[in-house]
Amino acid sequence: MDAILVTGGAGFIGANFVLDWLAPSNPDACPLVNLDALTYAGNLASLDPVAGDERHRFVHGDINDRALVSRLLREHRVRAIVNFAAESHVDRSILGPDAFVQTNIVGTFNLIEAAREWYTTLDATERAAFRFIQVSTDEVFGALGPSDPPFSETTPYSPRSPYSASKAAADHLVQAAFHTYGLPAIITHCSNNYGPLQFPEKLVPLMIRNARRGERLPVYGDGRQVRDWLHVSDHASALRAVLARGRPGETYNIGGSAERENLSVVNMLCSLLDERSPRADGASYAAQIAYVTDRPGHDRRYAIDQRKIAAELGWTPAVAFEQGLRDTVDWYLENDAWITGIETGAYRQWLDTNYRSGERAR
Ligand code: NAD
Ligand code: DAU
Repeated sequence: MDAILVTGGAGFIGANFVLDWLAPSNPDACPLVNLDALTYAGNLASLDPVAGDERHRFVHGDINDRALVSRLLREHRVRAIVNFAAESHVDRSILGPDAFVQTNIVGTFNLIEAAREWYTTLDATERAAFRFIQVSTDEVFGALGPSDPPFSETTPYSPRSPYSASKAAADHLVQAAFHTYGLPAIITHCSNNYGPLQFPEKLVPLMIRNARRGERLPVYGDGRQVRDWLHVSDHASALRAVLARGRPGETYNIGGSAERENLSVVNMLCSLLDERSPRADGASYAAQIAYVTDRPGHDRRYAIDQRKIAAELGWTPAVAFEQGLRDTVDWYLENDAWITGIETGAYRQWLDTNYRSGERAR
């Protein structure tokens, strides 16, 4: 069998995974078929570094297109699927959940069905090697109180936003395919990623973008919500470990052991920007912080217990949060054109919808 199929590989984490897979440090990597619908979050510019690499085949298409997915599995003799394709932003899921149901639930179901069909055509050796990796989220577990233990693989599901509910539904379908049909599937639950190529609707790139453009830095509610931050390169390396050594039917939690309050992250970003790209008036970017109306149903805290993946697969994160955030700020400063390229009418409309009209405008 010849290739892996990555879905959503023009998005933030998918593109980082693709670049990592095809990196010069990985010369023996098998070819990679990258299926992406290029929604607002997909960006071909992120894949520029592998434009001439014949091991990378980009296909513009939807995971809901069963005939297309089946053809790709057959033609490329796919030995593993890594499903990143999703609607991924919680705020968008609150304002418009339909697309989340369509891609995250129905799209994943479609991939499972195509994978099942392909799997039945494989011989015993090929079946033993085949994997379906569902890239899920820690948000399916709900929200933690300040002194609750971190999410483990046995924490019950308790999704609280349309986004996390759609990811939870997809996880259940993947588990069902493993238990009912024997599809060798594995689910990963990762915490908040940060790093290069992240769409500037998410906290870290949005704050860097707004700071540099002299706009306010919108902190939801009291800013005391806690997220567990992981550099995206560590997520890529964790997924490689899961692909190589993960056990079918298992789930693995992936986190950075870097719990931080949002306000602390925003203040760190301001300090880094003050140091690297000071404001013309000499004031700190922190002066641009503005408390805005909270996200409805805002989960207070996420944290990951990653002892299982460390013990079973030997994976631990390599990038410390402070260094990773510093590198991330540098990347966005050096790649402002990447952000400018995203600032189309659709992006401005999102900023208007989420921040400049209604409750958050105040
Ligand atoms: P993203 O929004 O940056 O990218 C999603 C990609 O999927 C885009 O390229 C988009 O064009 C593509 N896509 C959307 N609908 C599609 C469809 N129907 N068919 C084909 N392609 C489609 O998302 P991300 O932040 O890179 O997240 C990737 C995955 O990782 C998601 O499944 C998400 O739930 C999960 N995840 C994200 C984080 C995080 O912190 N960002 C953490 C844990 C898990
Ligand atoms: O935990 C994993 C999840 O992390 C992934 O499954 C999601 O795909 C990913 O988007 C992320 O979800 P969050 O909702 O935690 O990420 P976001 O960057 O949107 O927000 C991080 C925190 O910052 C959250 O508490 C909300 C807050 N926030 C966010 C934005 C965009 C603000 O205070 N202001 C903002 O403008």
